[in-house]
Amino acid sequence: MYNLDEHTITAEFLRRIQDTPNPRIREIVASLATHLHDFAREVRLTEEEWHEGIKFLTRTGQISNDTRQEMILLSDTFGLSQLVVAQNHSRPQGLTEQTVFGPFHVEGAPKRHSHGDDISIGYPGIPLFVTGRVVDGANHTIADAVVDVWHADPEGFYDVQDPNWVSDEAKLRGVFETDEQGSFSFRTIMPTSYPIPMDGPVGDIMRATNRHPMRPAHIHFMIKKPGFDPLVTHVFVEGAAYIDSDAVFGVRSSCIGRFVRHEAGQAPDGASLNEPFYTLDYTFVLASE
Ligand code: BEZ
Ligand code: FE
Repeated sequence: MYNLDEHTITAEFLRRIQDTPNPRIREIVASLATHLHDFAREVRLTEEEWHEGIKFLTRTGQISNDTRQEMILLSDTFGLSQLVVAQNHSRPQGLTEQTVFGPFHVEGAPKRHSHGDDISIGYPGIPLFVTGRVVDGANHTIADAVVDVWHADPEGFYDVQDPNWVSDEAKLRGVFETDEQGSFSFRTIMPTSYPIPMDGPVGDIMRATNRHPMRPAHIHFMIKKPGFDPLVTHVFVEGAAYIDSDAVFGVRSSCIGRFVRHEAGQAPDGASLNEPFYTLDYTFVLASE
């Protein structure tokens, strides 16, 4: 088949993939090509514009590495990550909802004691004491769940964003295990609202479309226990700036936590603090697999 034009090329593409052995791959590739063709026809894409598009995608790939994930950022800022999360993890009322994974998780973060470890390892900020409980939908405690935690520093940066970062200098991250009561606790510093990285191609498209880059203050949690759907979520600070306009569309009301301010005095770990501090107590409700 030749002499293809902008109207006949889609049917010819679909004909050429009809022998794809894996039916799911065929379905995905067919739909993707159909939508791409429709998109190009709908906006009457010019060659110059598509050339710019290819340059954009090339830069997005080239700037990505093990610690800089511009491809994830692109998916997140287009709302695609949250859309895929939402349609695969819809939750009945009462269960903790999933949010986007984000690009700053580190596999193999340091293991911490289940109670009381300070993951800020002396990094300056307003002290925060977190107590968490992990339960199932019937409020039964889940012991030995693995709780992976990570968050940004008060300037809005994750440790991995430092070009000199080395994995054994992890800060503001760690992996806990729940005890017999399904509990864990740790000390850290208050998270703040922060911008997603804007110095790459994703930043260019955010500026071109007049969007702000901010994420409301949050702490990331990934909780795993055999028999339960792994929970990838954040706890957002109630009342945080940008809670209504998260740049990556990740806020769910079940993921907003009460960070309570306390005057200087005795902290939950018994320490005597001469500055105000915050506490967060949050219950994570896992869905059975
Ligand atoms: C984050 O919260 O770490 C994040 C999520 C999506 C895009 C950028 C950052
Ligand atoms: Fe984050």
